[in-house]
Amino acid sequence: MNLKNEIFIHSMIVKKRDRSLIKKHKSCIIWLTGLSGAGKSSIAGLLEEKLNKQGKHTFLLDGDNLRHTLNQDLGFSDYDRNENIRRIGHVGKLMVDAGLIVIASFISPFEKQRKLTRELFEKNEYIEVFLNTPLEVCEQRDPKGLYKKARSGLLKDFTGIDSAYEKPENPEITLDGEQYSADVLSDKIINYLSENNFLKL
Ligand code: ADX
Repeated sequence: MNLKNEIFIHSMIVKKRDRSLIKKHKSCIIWLTGLSGAGKSSIAGLLEEKLNKQGKHTFLLDGDNLRHTLNQDLGFSDYDRNENIRRIGHVGKLMVDAGLIVIASFISPFEKQRKLTRELFEKNEYIEVFLNTPLEVCEQRDPKGLYKKARSGLLKDFTGIDSAYEKPENPEITLDGEQYSADVLSDKIINYLSENNFLKL
């Protein structure tokens, strides 16, 4: 149903800038993409903790968690994964408008959907972070035993096994998830935010 002709958009008096003024820093979305087991959730968690300790206003959107709530109706077909990311993009956009530093941690395997997500935001607001951990390393770690299940055929459409992961073409940051710890890599993201003046007005 298309109701666009009957629904009108109200402009708000309080703008993103007004909300940021109270928080004393800029808002943005840090979009972590990479294979399952690459270390996204660990880095995202540490990053949020460090920013929170610095007094920054943050929120963490995590794939595993949101698939239990907002996106519990979605599976892992290409269509469902794109819908998963589409919804999170819009939730992230609302949170950026609310003045927050949003950390999104999703496999988000498809370049086209990541590009569409980027387009929701203003220039420089969307910071794509590619956690480049080789499939062999993720598979060896296999923290949830899902690679084992996928290899044995018990789990279908698993990213990297029988579902594609398209490497980002132009991420703002690429992290080596094989060589470095979550502690070091979360610091790299903080350095980027600091050097690009996100952590102040
Ligand atoms: S995405 O592809 O739509 O971006 P998302 O990040 O939300 O995926 O969820 C990925 C998490 O779901 C993985 O970390 C893993 O724990 C779990 N999972 C369950 N089934 C699959 C599957 N077929 N492919 C990838 N991850 C899966």
